[in-house]
Amino acid sequence: MQIISVENMVKRFGSITAVDGITFGVDENSIFGFLGPNGAGKTTTISILCTLLDPTSGKAFLNGHDCSAESAAVRKSIGIVFQDSSLDKDLTARENLMFHARLYNVATPERKQRVDEALVFAGLQDRADDLVKKFSGGMKRRLEVARGLIHKPKVLFLDEPTLGLDPQSRSSLWEFIIELPKKHDVTIFMTTHYMEEAEVCDHIAIIDKGKIIASGTPGSLKKLIGGDVIYLKTSDNRKAAETLQKLFGLSATEKDGEIFISTPRGDSCIPALIREIGDIVLSVRLQRPTLNDVFLKLTGKEIRAENGSVENDVKETVRSYRRRHDRG
Ligand SMILES: Nc1ncnc2c1ncn2[C@@H]1O[C@H](COP(=O)(O)OP(=O)(O)O)[C@@H](O)[C@H]1O
Ligand SMILES: [Mg+2]
Repeated sequence: MQIISVENMVKRFGSITAVDGITFGVDENSIFGFLGPNGAGKTTTISILCTLLDPTSGKAFLNGHDCSAESAAVRKSIGIVFQDSSLDKDLTARENLMFHARLYNVATPERKQRVDEALVFAGLQDRADDLVKKFSGGMKRRLEVARGLIHKPKVLFLDEPTLGLDPQSRSSLWEFIIELPKKHDVTIFMTTHYMEEAEVCDHIAIIDKGKIIASGTPGSLKKLIGGDVIYLKTSDNRKAAETLQKLFGLSATEKDGEIFISTPRGDSCIPALIREIGDIVLSVRLQRPTLNDVFLKLTGKEIRAENGSVENDVKETVRSYRRRHDRG
């Protein structure tokens, strides 16, 4: 069943078209990844699905309800973790959860138990009565995710959940997120501009400049770009190239003393290659396409600068501030 369905949705802010006619569906209890660079329209799409904005045209349905006409029913079905933390730092973890449970009308007899479960789930039972301001970034995010689940929503929205976390907290948060559909009977709708993180999704839609430019499983998207590349260093490149031609009908290219071939099934080629010319092979390298390669192929640009992406975000913010305030 599709828990979310979006039909030809458009959102304009004055002359800016933030979302430009997108259509997609999300399967129940799956992890859906909405990928795209900064400014692509991800947060705007989430805001419409969460009933915080109305679309300019088109329709969005969540759990069978129209996101603009039946906002109360939609709100009952969702949990949200925003890009910026919305925890109260001067309350304890337990107090934050209790407050949220009351806000969402979780019945009093159940409230304490749900809060205790959420604390265990977030791995924070030992820190339950500490103020949130003493927590690390990763602990705060886990607490926010657990809080988003307290009223048992059908869909949990995570907008850039790992932004600003160090690599170790990012990967442990992912391990935690992957378990959610099974453990909590919930669909995850997440956005990220870290392509490599989207590998864990069941289904991905890539959005750029308000338009969905590709969608599918991570595997099917990577197939779009034509497969694996095998790099070989050998003591006799000519013989190696002849063997590649003979075994697989592939012509190798030589570059910087290495030869390489492209093939859809790199892993199955390597054993045969080693059997045949193992004596002259010095090293073998298999490079699999990444989702970043997919984005690069579709748009001709990197989804983000590999380094200094935070710095670039800041630069862009400053630039857009100047555009608005310093017209001279
Ligand atoms: N409230 C708003 N008013 C004007 N423009 C907006 C507003 N919200 C978003 N935008 C613009 O819409 C585009 C998409 O923004 P957003 O959905 O936040 O992208 P993302 O989350 O993918 O980074 C951007 O050009 C952004 O500047
Ligand atoms: Mg955003």
